[in-house]
Amino acid sequence: MSDTARKILVTSALPYANGPIHLGHLLEYIQTDIWVRFQKLRGEQCIYVCADDAHGTAIMLKAEENGVTPEQQIAQVKADHERDFADFQIRFDNYYSTHSPENRALSEMVFQRNKDAGYIIEKTITQLYDPQKGMFLADRFVKGTCPKCKSEDQYGDNCEVCGATYTPAELIDPYSSVSGATPVEKETTQLFFDLPRFEPMLREWTRSGALQEQVANKLQEWIEDLQPWDISREAPYFGFEIPGYPGKYFYVWLDAPIGYMASFQNYCEREDLSFDDYWAKDSSAELYHFIGKDIINFHGLFWPAMLEGAGLRKPTAIYSHGFVTVNGAKMSKSRGTFIKARTYLDHLSPEYLRYYFAAKLSSRVDDFDLNLEDFAQRVNADLVGKLVNIASRTGNFVKKFGGTLSEELDNPLLVREVQEAGPRIAQSYEKREFGKAMRDIMALADHANGYIAEKAPWSLAKEEGREQEVLQICTTAINVFRLLVIYLKPVLPALAERAEAFLQIEPLTWNDSEQLLLNHEIAKFKPLLNRIDMAQIESMLSASKESTPAAAPQSDSKPAAKPSGNDGPAKDDTISIDDFLKVKLRVARVARAAHVDGADKLLQLTLDVGELGERNVFAGIKAKYKPEDLEGKLVVLVANLAPRKMKFGVSEGMVLAAGPGGEDIYVLSPDSGAEPGMEVR
Ligand code: MSP
Ligand code: ZN
Repeated sequence: MSDTARKILVTSALPYANGPIHLGHLLEYIQTDIWVRFQKLRGEQCIYVCADDAHGTAIMLKAEENGVTPEQQIAQVKADHERDFADFQIRFDNYYSTHSPENRALSEMVFQRNKDAGYIIEKTITQLYDPQKGMFLADRFVKGTCPKCKSEDQYGDNCEVCGATYTPAELIDPYSSVSGATPVEKETTQLFFDLPRFEPMLREWTRSGALQEQVANKLQEWIEDLQPWDISREAPYFGFEIPGYPGKYFYVWLDAPIGYMASFQNYCEREDLSFDDYWAKDSSAELYHFIGKDIINFHGLFWPAMLEGAGLRKPTAIYSHGFVTVNGAKMSKSRGTFIKARTYLDHLSPEYLRYYFAAKLSSRVDDFDLNLEDFAQRVNADLVGKLVNIASRTGNFVKKFGGTLSEELDNPLLVREVQEAGPRIAQSYEKREFGKAMRDIMALADHANGYIAEKAPWSLAKEEGREQEVLQICTTAINVFRLLVIYLKPVLPALAERAEAFLQIEPLTWNDSEQLLLNHEIAKFKPLLNRIDMAQIESMLSASKESTPAAAPQSDSKPAAKPSGNDGPAKDDTISIDDFLKVKLRVARVARAAHVDGADKLLQLTLDVGELGERNVFAGIKAKYKPEDLEGKLVVLVANLAPRKMKFGVSEGMVLAAGPGGEDIYVLSPDSGAEPGMEVR
C-alpha cells in the first residue's frame, strides 16, 4: 500500500439477529463487497466492517419462542450469518455484534456527549402497555383495526391496506401481538433526542452530495417536519441499560449504527490502528454506509445528527439501493421465492449471483428484479459463452505447441484496446455503476471472440509450419482473457483465483493490467465455470417451498393430466396462486382522457403508473364515461399485457371494469390513498 493510498471505511447495514440471510440481503452485501474489493485491488486502504444487530424486542421475543436466552439466540444466528457471508465470498475485515463491550462504551459516550450538549430531553408520554406480559408495547407489537379503512389486523403505526399512519392508541380494538391481551394506556417518562435542533445542519448536509438525489429529495419531506426522537425503551428489553436511568434501555436504533464504530474499534484493537483517525471531527478518512432504501431516515437524519451532537465526523456518503423482488414479485414463502442464502448455496455457485447482481446494479435506488430465467441465460451467455470461452478455445493450443506463450502478439491493437478500457471500467466501479462495467467488459469479450473466430486457430493448427502463428493468436487471446479477469476480479474473486492458477501467476491486482503476459509458461486448461442448468433453479425453488410448511395450493404439486398441457383449460378452471400472480395489476391515475377521432366506443387514456411511467390505453367505455369524468380517477391497470396494435394506435395494457359493456360498464377504482404504481393483488 502506498503512502498516498486513500483511507476508506465502509459498512453494510447490520442484519438483525433474528433470522437467516436471504437473497434480498445479499444484494447489499455483494454490492458493498464488490466495491470494497475494487478499492483494495487498486491499492487503497479500504476497511470493511459489519456486525449483527442483536438488540430489540423482536430478538428478545424470538429467543423466548425458541426457548433460549437472547445471548444464545444471537450467538447461533451470528455463526450462521458469518458462514453464509463467507460462502458468498463476502470478505469483511471485521464482523462483530452490537451486543459487545465496545458498543456499550461507545453508545454511552455518544449519549453522554449529546446529553451534556443539551440534546437529550425528557418527556412524559402515554404508551400502550401489555398488562398480562408486564411490558410496554412498541408500535409493531400492537395490532388492531385501522381507524381509517377499518381493515383488521393492522400494525400500530400504519395500515398496510390503505397506507394511513396513526398512533397505536388510535387503533380500533387494539390487542397485544405478544399475548393477545387488550393493552392499557400507561404514563412513562422517556428520553428523546432533540432532532429539530439539527434542522439547519441536516438541510445543508443532505444537499452536500453525501446522498443520492432520489434519497435527498425523499429526506426533504422529513426535514419539513422533524420531531424529537424517542431513544429509550422500558424493561424488559434486550439491549443496554441507560446510565442514570435504571430500567430504561437504549432503543435498538440508537446503538445499531454505533455498532459500525464498535466493530471498527474492535478491529483497530486487533490491528493496532488509530480509531480517532477515522472518527474524529477533523478526520480526513472517507466513511461510506451501504444501506437499503427502507432505512434511509435512520442513516440520513438521526445518525448524522447524533454524530454531530457528539462532536464526531459525519459520513462522507450514504449509498442506498432498492429492494429485491424475485420473478417480478415480492419474495414469497408460498411461491418458493423467499430464498435463503443457504438454500441458494445448496444448489448454485455464489459466483453466478455475484455476477448477476453486478450486471444489473447501478448507483440508483431502483428496485431490483431477480428474474431466474434471465439470471440463468445471462450468466451462461456472459461468463461461460463469452469470458471463459476465450481461454477454452485457445488455452489448449498453447499447451499443444510447447506450453509457453509467445514473445510477440498477433494482434497488439486488440490487446491495447482492452488495456485502454481499464480506467473507464475503474470509473464505473468507483461510481457503483457495476452494470455499466460489466457491459463494457462483455463488449471487449465479444471483440476477442470475434477475433478468435476469424482467425480460427483450430484450422491453422492442422497446417504444417504455422505453429508460431497459432501461438501468437492464442497469446493475444490469453492476454485479453487475463485483462478481463483483472477487471472482473472484484465481482468474481474465486474465478480469478482459478484463472491465476491456469496462467501460473501471482494474485492479480488492478495495476497488473499495465503489463502483458508474454513468453510465460501456462498450465493445462481446465473448465473454469459450469453452465447453470434450469433444473438447479427448479430444485432450489422447491427446496425453498419445502422449508416453509405453509405450502402452495395443491394444484401446484399435482402433475398435469397431459405433459404438453396444450389441450385447453382443465375441467375445473381453478388456477394456482402462481397463475394469478402472472397477471401484474397496478394502480394508475388517469392523467388525460380523450375522444378518439372515428371511434364510437373507445376513449384514449393516458395513465400515470408511478414508477412504471406513462401508458397509453384504449378503453371501450365511451358509452358510459365522458373524458372529464375520468381525469384524475384512480384505476386498475393490467400492466403486463402484451401491447396490442389497434386501428388508432398501440394499446399498452387494459383497464379493469365490471359489467357486460356499453352503458352497463363500471370502471374499478381503488379507494383514495392508493398511489399510482402500487401493486394490486
Ligand atoms: N438491523 C437493521 C439495520 C441496522 S444498520 C445500523 C436492518 N436489518 S435487516 O436485516 O432488516 O436488513 C439489513 C439490510 O438488508 C438493510 O439495508 C435492508 O435494506 C437490506 N434488505 C433486507 N431485505 C431486502 C430486500 N428484499 N432487498 C434488498 N435489500 C434488503 O434493517
Ligand atoms: Zn387502513
